[in-house]
Amino acid sequence: MDVLEAIQQRRTVKKYLPDAVPAEQLDCILDAAKWAPCHRMTEPWRFRVVGPVTLGRLATVAGEGAAKLMRAPTLVVASYAPSPLPLHAAEDEQAAACAIYAVLLAAEAEGLASYWRTPGILRSEEGRAALQLPAEERTLGLLHFGLPKKSRPEAPPRQGTDAYVTWLD
Ligand SMILES: Cc1cc2nc3c(=O)[nH]c(=O)nc-3n(C[C@H](O)[C@H](O)[C@H](O)COP(=O)(O)O)c2cc1C
Repeated sequence: MDVLEAIQQRRTVKKYLPDAVPAEQLDCILDAAKWAPCHRMTEPWRFRVVGPVTLGRLATVAGEGAAKLMRAPTLVVASYAPSPLPLHAAEDEQAAACAIYAVLLAAEAEGLASYWRTPGILRSEEGRAALQLPAEERTLGLLHFGLPKKSRPEAPPRQGTDAYVTWLD
């Protein structure tokens, strides 16, 4: 699969088969993160693969949101460690978002479905404690991975380049 194909085919998938992504395959997908562009090579991205004990802790504090945590067989928390200077921290966030997208595209190339979610639990004190996140890290999402339960959902409509590209003279 070439990169343009992966970009165009990737969809947010919310229903999965129960099979967990094998650790070796997950490691291969997460390896894609390190190739993201990154100013000053701070490599700020962090990924935490959620194991059963952590998932149990997270579900306990998630309350009504717990059911949504069980939708995918494999969950990964994406965060980043910001540099002290605000400008550098902003660039770290941008690089980490690139890294997440690289991981989603790598999953697509591996025939896996994915879903980037930003549930409130990632921003709550209880959720952070359940994930044992260091105070300095900022969360960017809860990534879902697995085999899709049914065929790829239809893509939400997109605007053409006319809507977002300006050719300056
Ligand atoms: C930073 C970020 C956060 C997102 N958070 C959520 C979320 O909390 N819940 C959700 O249903 N989708 C979330 N999405 C997925 C978008 O809704 C989805 O990408 C969009 O509808 C386009 O669909 P597609 O990914 O299939 O192209 C998020 C996407 C991004 C990039």
